[in-house]
Amino acid sequence: MDNNNEIWESRYQAGTTGWDRGKTSGNLLDWLESGNLTPCRILVPGCGNGYEVLTLAEKGFAVTAVDIAPSPIANLQKALDDNQLSAELVQSDFFSLDYSDKPFDAIYEQTCLCALPPSQWKNFEQWLHQSLKTGGKLYSQFMQTHEEGGPPYHCDMSEMKQLFSDKRWHWKKEVKGQEISSKGDKLEIPCLLEKI
Ligand SMILES: C[S@@+](CC[C@H](N)C(=O)[O-])C[C@H]1O[C@@H](n2cnc3c(N)ncnc32)[C@H](O)[C@@H]1O
Repeated sequence: MDNNNEIWESRYQAGTTGWDRGKTSGNLLDWLESGNLTPCRILVPGCGNGYEVLTLAEKGFAVTAVDIAPSPIANLQKALDDNQLSAELVQSDFFSLDYSDKPFDAIYEQTCLCALPPSQWKNFEQWLHQSLKTGGKLYSQFMQTHEEGGPPYHCDMSEMKQLFSDKRWHWKKEVKGQEISSKGDKLEIPCLLEKI
């Protein structure tokens, strides 16, 4: 295990997973119910226990879900099996995965960018971009903590607009934030971006 793997795995083993809702995010349900997100080949990076992966698989999406920590991947595989659902689960550092030769129709990013140190954000934006087809959609959620440090790191919206530049992304939609953490003490801004 590398260091990042150990750090995340130890959080799962200690149960210090304040981000874990224990159920599918309301933002995903809104996107599904509004018809903004319809069955396609979709990538879920940093999936954690992956309640959203179960929902997407149940609704007929072809889901690939990636997490660096073994425990949530094992939990998610069991939940899929228990519900007779399937998805491709990959236990890996997503930066080591190259999907540019088989890019996805969509990516669902939840509490993942904000979990990375800001020094890795440009690499993450590039990895998301190369993992999507042209015209593919990024369903993202920008964490608002208004605090120093992290994780989760505050995703200032003017910084996000620079990071996800309008030369590379078409910003389709930005709506009111919703509660994110299991304690309901964090807000996120759901945004729909299209790869140019
Ligand atoms: C804050 S948690 C969010 C988990 C899940 N998306 C959720 O909302 O419950 C961030 C997740 O990203 C994973 N992660 C962090 N760095 C990663 C990397 N480089 N590659 C793959 N997964 C990573 C962690 O193991 C953790 O499960």
